[in-house]
Amino acid sequence: MKDAQQQCIALRQQLDDWAFAYYVEDSPRVPDAEYDRVYAELEKLELQFPNLVTPQSPTQRVGGQALDAFEPARHRRPMLSLNNAFEASDVAAFDRRARELLGVSVPPQAELLFENSEELEYAAELKFDGLAVSLVYRHGNLERAATRGDGTTGENVTQNIRTIKNVPLHLRSVSNAPVPELLEVRGEVLMLRADFTSLNKRQSAAGLKEFANPRNAAAGSLRQLDPAITAQRPLHFYSYALGEVQIHADDRVSHQLLDRHSDTLDWMKSLGLPVGDFRQVVRGTQGLLDFYKKVGQARDALTFDIDGVVYKLNDRLQQEQLGFVSKAPRFAIAHKFPAQEMLTTLLDIEVQVGRTGSLTPVARLEPVFVGGVTVTNATLHNEDEIRRKDLKIGDVVIVRRAGDVIPEVMRSVPEQRPVSARDFVMPTVCPVCQSPVIRDPDEAIARCTGGWLCAAQRKQALEHFAGRRAMDIEGLGEKLVDQLVEAQLLRSFADIYTTLKLENLQTLDRFGEKSARNLLDGIEVSKSRGPARLLYALGIRHVGEEVSRLLIDHFGSLDQVVATSAEQWNLLLEQKAAIQKENQKRRGKTGLERLALDPVPLEGIGERIIESLREAFTGLNSPYPIEFARLKEAGLQTEVESSNAGELSKPATSQILAGKTVVVTGTLPTLSRDAMHELIRTHGGKVASSVSSKTHLLVAGSDAGSKLTKAQELGVTVIDEDALMAMLHSP
Ligand code: IVH
Repeated sequence: MKDAQQQCIALRQQLDDWAFAYYVEDSPRVPDAEYDRVYAELEKLELQFPNLVTPQSPTQRVGGQALDAFEPARHRRPMLSLNNAFEASDVAAFDRRARELLGVSVPPQAELLFENSEELEYAAELKFDGLAVSLVYRHGNLERAATRGDGTTGENVTQNIRTIKNVPLHLRSVSNAPVPELLEVRGEVLMLRADFTSLNKRQSAAGLKEFANPRNAAAGSLRQLDPAITAQRPLHFYSYALGEVQIHADDRVSHQLLDRHSDTLDWMKSLGLPVGDFRQVVRGTQGLLDFYKKVGQARDALTFDIDGVVYKLNDRLQQEQLGFVSKAPRFAIAHKFPAQEMLTTLLDIEVQVGRTGSLTPVARLEPVFVGGVTVTNATLHNEDEIRRKDLKIGDVVIVRRAGDVIPEVMRSVPEQRPVSARDFVMPTVCPVCQSPVIRDPDEAIARCTGGWLCAAQRKQALEHFAGRRAMDIEGLGEKLVDQLVEAQLLRSFADIYTTLKLENLQTLDRFGEKSARNLLDGIEVSKSRGPARLLYALGIRHVGEEVSRLLIDHFGSLDQVVATSAEQWNLLLEQKAAIQKENQKRRGKTGLERLALDPVPLEGIGERIIESLREAFTGLNSPYPIEFARLKEAGLQTEVESSNAGELSKPATSQILAGKTVVVTGTLPTLSRDAMHELIRTHGGKVASSVSSKTHLLVAGSDAGSKLTKAQELGVTVIDEDALMAMLHSP
């Protein structure tokens, strides 16, 4: 028994140390599996000797019954709020006022002489966008946790807070000093962005309501009456201040640590409390503004949401001198970032025609300043999306712009819907060319049937053709294409090579001889981009870059692709289907038979693509055959030439990835995305853009997101750039 007790204590100590390293120091000591193993050992021991269980044991995070209601919990010191600053001038005014009240203000003409000596010192921190809680530790043990409530009395959420893994159940002693007798810790509970995304996925899969943002998800999860539910929600805690503190009278060191806020936070961290590392001691208004700017730049890369930064006078005596006004301290201020969600009016929904005739509804909005820019329109993608978001023209809508992400209309606010609000109806004729609009019953997109007769489709087809990843024609961008189409100089791709001349180019508005010559040079150079890029440039539906490459690899030239008859395409479809069916049968079997799978012709090129190709090159009214003939006539390279064989069939250095489908995600340490794709192909691999059960390998860099999660869910092997390199270079 004595032994068992000793062992329990030792195991808990070990687990606590590892948890501290993991959650507070951000430097895990052991693999998760090792933690789990020791945890299981402790669990087993406690099961054997139930009377050895203590509330502070790491096994005791989830316990207790579901509640009917939360008990009120009175804070020992009130939980305050912060005044807000939005502009640099608000920050300057805050700093000026603090100096005045502290009597360190210097007359402007003397400022130069004093330089920085009279600047006040501030602790600058992140403003976590979660919900405020107060934790009471008595004799180092977590005794009670409460929400902010009205600032004086909140709700007792102790059971739920105990389930948050980075909240210590008891404090560590620092260099053998006794733990504080009483510590009221103030901080924020939040949900990491990645956890929020996967929680919402689980919610939607279970047919439950999704949360609007990580803060709502955190609040909803913390205010669960059943702690077992909270335990399943991945919450995090960051502490940023203290309420009441009782330290042993003779603990001089701890007392001293309370003199400066930045030192207090360091001390809290050493006690095992999670404290954010993104903080800095700065001086004066400029120091504050520099911090704001730095955080603004780092904001998107953070793993959680913040809604601004907080500045606190660092010196505690100065804090006390300044005191409070009503419910907010005068010694601190929150400098908010521009809101990322705003309300505005949906003035109209217009329809834009895309390259393949797709009709995309676009929201015209009452201009609104959101996420730091003025937003006046946003894509609504398709009709279903409009219905899903419950949008009517005239509605009040929530517009969101986070970081550099394109602005999005989130949903309407039906409570504020005017009686005049009306439904959006997809037009039945194209707004540009008046051709009929059709919508395939199993597609979300409505399309204009005008083809190249439609000026909108023509312009965008030409833009795509000249684009960087296609024929890469220097100087032929959106504006010029528009001009050339309007001037009737361009009707099709081949016109680029046959119609454009120095004389007619110079008739264009603001188009001098030099630009004309440069453009013609660019056009000339583009003739030798090779068949795969030319095929991609044609912009046939479902025929992207990778598919184009595979096709040219298979057929050897674009001429061969174009010459394939409808019957041959159909035959190919049948062959593929037959082999796949046969393979499917063998897959069910075991052993050798399973190994004997036949290679499928044009692996990775599905029915949809083949039908699209058949239609493009053999369809009655298709412009592609003539277009191809004209392009060839104009001297474009349509066969794989040895000189640019590298484009497609560079002899592979190894075939180590042959037959393997590889997806790349995240930022790689040394290679660009394109370079990595190229590398995979040279080694015989196939590059895919999304992870599925057919993916063999995911190469993940930093900031990998949903693809990584999906790969892990599907059990797809995940490796990093280094590991891939090692694999490719292994003999
Ligand atoms: S200090 C005496 N520091 O912002 C000052 N608050 O708008 C008390 N918040 O209720 C607050 N990050 O929930 C402080 N680093 C931070 C914070 C922070 C987020 C929240 C907190 C507070 C609200 C005030």
